[in-house]
Amino acid sequence: MPPRPILLDCDPGHDDAVAMLLAWGSPAIDLVGVTTVAGNQTLEKVTANALALARVAGIAGVPFAKGADCPLVGPQLIPAEIHGESGLDGPRLPGPGADLDPRHAVDLIADTVRGHASGEVTLVATGALTNLALFARTHPDLVGRVAGVTLMGGAHHGGNMTPAAEFNILADPEAAAIVFDASWPVTMVGLDVTHKVLATPERMEQIARVGTDVAGFVAELVDFFGQAYKAERRYPGPPMHDPLAVAAVADPSVLATVAAPVRVETRGEYTRGMTVVDLRRTWDVAGGEPSILGVADDYENMSMHRVGVDVDVDGFWHMLIDALTRIGNTHFR
Ligand code: RIB
Ligand code: CA
Repeated sequence: MPPRPILLDCDPGHDDAVAMLLAWGSPAIDLVGVTTVAGNQTLEKVTANALALARVAGIAGVPFAKGADCPLVGPQLIPAEIHGESGLDGPRLPGPGADLDPRHAVDLIADTVRGHASGEVTLVATGALTNLALFARTHPDLVGRVAGVTLMGGAHHGGNMTPAAEFNILADPEAAAIVFDASWPVTMVGLDVTHKVLATPERMEQIARVGTDVAGFVAELVDFFGQAYKAERRYPGPPMHDPLAVAAVADPSVLATVAAPVRVETRGEYTRGMTVVDLRRTWDVAGGEPSILGVADDYENMSMHRVGVDVDVDGFWHMLIDALTRIGNTHFR
């Protein structure tokens, strides 16, 4: 099977960085563009980080463009306590490995979708969904040409920034609502599954055995990224949120999903940014046809998306280690 073309919209961010490495090293992925969006840090900082990652990974021939520097409506949230003041604290970064494309992210997304056959390009979003929402509103005629959107975000139960909201959705709930309401198919890689791929010491020993400068860089990323998770949540290692979204495109069998309507709460006092996933229709009732006991809303008429519910954890780590092995040493320092 030919590699799947993807455009990565990201906010590097430690796990975004690993996602970019996976996208570049995976033989199942053709990375055709990278766009940045404010999220883990300011647009300027995440963009500088993305360009530095191009040098770390040895990425060539891929356009990098920056996009939205703030959410559509709400306040900007920057979780410096997790990714640090630079957005990629921990490892010493090299200089830029790519020139910034003069186009806005939305224009690069549009040109990329136009430049490929309809149904070829998958948009992988690992940050706030502002750029994708602006693209869908600016180029409604191109939405149907997109193979699909695979996004790290949300959860069918719970949140990390609040009890109800995950960061990428809460960072711009209005944008997320536009993305889930658009006509393209969305695969939601939420906390329910990303919290199953923790970069534990055992997994990091496997990464270390790759023995390259890039694998060593990943270890430095995980070391810093894991500090907040260890301190605040006693996690044995940080979740590989964003790389799992890329892995789900490289090999869809790595993620078990159910079809379900998804809505984004934009007004709730305690639930703003919540992805409201209607699982009522996806679980069999007593082995018979799934049914909904009193339907008190119009979920019946909503488009169904794919929602991650389980992961082939070993399969994910094998994919990441294989990608890092293929990248080899890039001598970025
Ligand atoms: O909630 C996790 C998500 O928020 C990840 O994409 C991480 O990089 C941050 O953007
Ligand atoms: Ca991210």
